[in-house]
Amino acid sequence: MSRESEFVVVANRLPVDRDRDRGGWRRSPGGLVSAIAPVMRSRQGTWVGWSGAPDEMLDPFVEDGMHLCPVRQSAEEVELYYEGFSNATLWPLYHDVIAPPVYDRAMWDAYVRVNERFATAAADVAAEGAIVWVQDYQLQLVPAMLRRLRPDLRIGFFLHIPFPPLELFWQMPWRRQILEGLLGADLVGFQLPGAAANFVRLCKRLLDAKSVKQDVHWEDRVVRARAFPISVDVGELRELIARPEVRWRADEIRADLGGGTVLLGVDRLDYTKGITQRLQAFGELFADGELKPGEAVLAQIATPSRERVEQYQILREQIEQQVGRINGQHAELGSPVIHYLHTSYDREELAALYLAADVMVVTPLRDGMNLVAKEYVACREDLRGTLVLSEFAGAAEELRRGAYLVNPYDIDGLKETLLAAVRAEPAEQARRMRVMRKRVIEHDVDRWAADFLASLEQPAGAPAV
Ligand code: ADP
Ligand code: F6P
Repeated sequence: MSRESEFVVVANRLPVDRDRDRGGWRRSPGGLVSAIAPVMRSRQGTWVGWSGAPDEMLDPFVEDGMHLCPVRQSAEEVELYYEGFSNATLWPLYHDVIAPPVYDRAMWDAYVRVNERFATAAADVAAEGAIVWVQDYQLQLVPAMLRRLRPDLRIGFFLHIPFPPLELFWQMPWRRQILEGLLGADLVGFQLPGAAANFVRLCKRLLDAKSVKQDVHWEDRVVRARAFPISVDVGELRELIARPEVRWRADEIRADLGGGTVLLGVDRLDYTKGITQRLQAFGELFADGELKPGEAVLAQIATPSRERVEQYQILREQIEQQVGRINGQHAELGSPVIHYLHTSYDREELAALYLAADVMVVTPLRDGMNLVAKEYVACREDLRGTLVLSEFAGAAEELRRGAYLVNPYDIDGLKETLLAAVRAEPAEQARRMRVMRKRVIEHDVDRWAADFLASLEQPAGAPAV
């Protein structure tokens, strides 16, 4: 495949990875894939990314209606670039240093090397003047590298996770290189206006760049920094919940869970997601006698994620012990109070779970957006169900009028909020759900992508969008 795509997405992962149990391909984990895959299918471009397996050399292929162009990563690069600099350095630094970031020069060198490989792969597949959309924190150097190789391209970058304030970003030993990497783009997109403001402030302080509002003047170009809150594929979810088999499955799940109030958590197993705080608060409600076994049950689904990174291994053990302890103390024979499933599900099962849940519990300690919260809202056409949502999820900016907002560090506050959500009357549920649905339906993933790409296609110097 060479120089033929008018539209290229570059992301660390391809939208599919290998299904080790059943063979073949399955959807890769995480919000990035949920958001970009529908855009990609409708635009018929090329997706440049890694297959998820070390040392795998693959030719370009088509899967699930998408043209995929694999980029190799050696086992050592997976360790140093992906598990290392991306997920042991950038991930914790950009999420409020919830875990201590590791600063290691060999990891940084691998990050530079792999970013170069992605830039070269994108340069090879993009047609003259094509649009190239680079995704997320793993590839922050790609915009500048790609511009050097192919100055004819229109380059966009979108960061799916939070962008930290100056006081935190300042820790980064390679802070200049990262900002200069991002400034290779014509448009740098963030989830929230606060993140775009952090970026502009950093460019001014660290690089002495001039800026006018959110336009940064850099090397005789203007780089726009803007917020584009990402969203969900409302059409896909609507189609799923209309299927009779999904509705039957939702009824079946409710019956299997014992007929009480169903609380649901769906997350990658990640320390940013606040799963331990959620479990603690829920367990204490039984210890306090506020909830009785059989009256309420929590189904916690946790997708395996970054399993070789130490912090993720520690978290998994912690959660498994916590679930065992809470069930040991409060469950009755045959009816646990927490159902914990360390697995990932297909979209049908996920939609059925959303329909089965009375209370969706989304309590990250920090999250760029959180698509699970929006997926739940998109699925509740019946206007039933409540959403407990962390103030530290990007989604709280849009859903604050309808969600039960909570500070997940405040366990007493979390307990009160969970109870309020469990006890909400149907009329109150409907009132809140209506407000949230209006926002999500009007601002779905198609609109997000259209807004970003329209802004990217605008000539530099045009009025800000
Ligand atoms: P992140 O990008 O940090 O993983 P998001 O909430 O933004 O968080 O996105 C997670 C995406 O992954 C959502 O689209 C959600 O439906 C999907 N997902 C999360 N957990 C599971 C699971 N156990 N099985 C299948 N899909 C999941
Ligand atoms: O933005 C969230 C994100 O980190 C994506 O970049 C990533 O694809 C997804 O979560 C899942 O993480 P991983 O690719 O490390 O499994």
